[in-house]
Amino acid sequence: MVTAERTTVRLVCAECGTEYPTGVPRYRCTCGGLLTVEQPLAALRETVSRELFDVRLASRARLDQSGVWRFRELLGDYSPGEIVSKPEGRGNLYEDARLTDWAGVGQLWLKHEGENPTGSFKDRGMTVGMTHARRLGARTVACASSGNTSASLASYAATAGLAALTFVPEGKVSTAKVAQTIAYGARVIQIRGDFDAAMRLVQEVAETPEYGVYLLNSINPFRLEGQKTIVLDALQALGWRVPDAIVLPGGNLGNTAAFGKALEEALALGLIDRIPQIITVQASGAAPFARAFARGFAPGSYRPVEAKTVATAIAIGDPVSYPRARRVIQTTEGIVLAVSDEAILAAKAQIDRAGIGCEPASAATLAGLRALITDGLLPAKASVLAILTGNLMKDAEAIAAYHQPDPRSERPGANPPITIDPTLDEVKILLDEAGRWGAGSTE
Ligand code: F0G
Repeated sequence: MVTAERTTVRLVCAECGTEYPTGVPRYRCTCGGLLTVEQPLAALRETVSRELFDVRLASRARLDQSGVWRFRELLGDYSPGEIVSKPEGRGNLYEDARLTDWAGVGQLWLKHEGENPTGSFKDRGMTVGMTHARRLGARTVACASSGNTSASLASYAATAGLAALTFVPEGKVSTAKVAQTIAYGARVIQIRGDFDAAMRLVQEVAETPEYGVYLLNSINPFRLEGQKTIVLDALQALGWRVPDAIVLPGGNLGNTAAFGKALEEALALGLIDRIPQIITVQASGAAPFARAFARGFAPGSYRPVEAKTVATAIAIGDPVSYPRARRVIQTTEGIVLAVSDEAILAAKAQIDRAGIGCEPASAATLAGLRALITDGLLPAKASVLAILTGNLMKDAEAIAAYHQPDPRSERPGANPPITIDPTLDEVKILLDEAGRWGAGSTE
């Protein structure tokens, strides 16, 4: 008997395969497994092609201008009128010879997701998550956050006209991220505890139906559908040439999961002909994933930690998407590693000094890449796509602290501001030293 091809999305448990309706809020299976959105790939193979997406690059239509909705066939069956978009997903792809050399790789492209409307990659997931929230008739949306998700949620909730609650760890989020969230009108609830405590609490809130709160953390599978487009957009910008590896920072591990899904679907749809290695970099003070990888993902190798790192965006000790991300590392024969805060800040100084800039968590990518090359774990001729996840202006405190003079620590490229009296004599003294300010590497 010939059965009609499935043409709609399904919501299924990644562990046991149980299917749930997409029209009812749900984040986990009754077995405890995380849920995945399954796209109707067999049917999509008839409609989707590189050419379809490439033609849209020249279009002025609202949805084509979004680097998320340009790939709308792979995101579900939303109609144009219901989509909540700014648009987003229009960050640059940078190449800088100084950074390529510093990392020691053959070729390096940096995709800047910090150039999104609220300054981080979260907008890619949020546009889809908020669209889905509206379809479900949600009135209040919520998240736990180390700051970027909360800023993105607040902004997209404002666009959609929904109420927003964000749960953040008190004193562990940069001023800029809290400020953004407040300014966009979300309620900021500061938790006496860390990100992981906030995450546990918000899940309990969302699983209590009478509160009527829809959860938009990356445990929400519709958010991950949006984040798939980071990879699709970057591959398209590379003319669909597949790099040897894609490097990204890992916190709650939603992106690692989304990247793997994007690549699997792109391969199934004939958009690419091979799968690159996924390399996830954690901060060494928040590295339960790297630890489990180092132990071959053996049973018992995963243990939550108490997270502490200067890269506050990824100060996460018990990542929600761990099982999804583990599968991605296994299927792409990827790598997970941890780098020190010093290495993250040194890499950030390089990216900033190249005039590109990013927040500390994003610089873990470059730090990780350099460490892999130094240790011989990645061939020096490798071509690599690195994802910069957040904007430089997200964390001014980290910048001010790094560039402060400090005789106790070595800080390559430290560039503290200089204070003088308003006299030409003082300027002259400075100009005489100006040879030291030439452009180039911070080393
Ligand atoms: N980079 C930045 C700038 C982030 O804000 C985050 C996560 C990550 C990397 C890690 O991505 O969670 O997909 O592994 N920030 C979340 C937040 C947790 O609440 O803003 P992941």
